[in-house]
Amino acid sequence: MTEQPPFYDDLAACLEEAWRRLCEGATSRRGAFHTPSLATIGLDGAPRLRTVVLREADPGTRTLRFHTDHRSDKAAEIVRTPRVALHAYEAAAKIQVRIEGRARLHAQDAVTEAAWEAALPMSRICYGVVPGPGTPIPAGDAYAMPDDEEKAARDRENFRVVLVTVERLEFLYLAFEGHRRARFSWDGEEMSGTWLVP
Ligand SMILES: Cc1cc2nc3c(=O)[nH]c(=O)nc-3n(C[C@H](O)[C@H](O)[C@H](O)COP(=O)(O)O)c2cc1C
Repeated sequence: MTEQPPFYDDLAACLEEAWRRLCEGATSRRGAFHTPSLATIGLDGAPRLRTVVLREADPGTRTLRFHTDHRSDKAAEIVRTPRVALHAYEAAAKIQVRIEGRARLHAQDAVTEAAWEAALPMSRICYGVVPGPGTPIPAGDAYAMPDDEEKAARDRENFRVVLVTVERLEFLYLAFEGHRRARFSWDGEEMSGTWLVP
């Protein structure tokens, strides 16, 4: 029998492992937890999915952070319906984490300021793209990026920080000896966790 990880039959340790993976995903570019999929509810009510870069994960406040452009579809979708979901599967570890929560868009406040200051010039430049993300264009290259930092700084008004408060987290670990699946949910500060049939 293969030796199983310490969280295998330990519910609390499954939650810790999920957060450990999320925190690592935010700080390291390697691995699937760096670029989870984010689901929103489209303006027409249909589900919409895309990749985002996870910038920060804080188990204390149950918050995940990513960045976006306020002109993007996802920004409008979050404003309309703040309920979102995130997903990542790390094949090497055989761990899937699914999250449901509430997203909040931050603009021109201390949160946005700190994130903008910490962002790399290469990332900042994206927020100055003209026309805005998602605009139909007549050719693949019919768009322009700001050509200097000063211009990029002016374009920061398009920059948004999205903070997601986790309300539900599901952990799945695949093992030949038997998969393990656990669900954690929060009602305010009150947390409840349970094993689920995988
Ligand atoms: C690896 C990767 C990372 C990405 N990171 C982000 C991100 O952090 N924020 C973002 O708004 N879009 C990011 N994108 C682009 C989105 O996946 C998406 O194509 C774009 O934002 C338009 O989405 P929307 O029309 O649903 O708003 C990323 C794409 C890839 C492939």
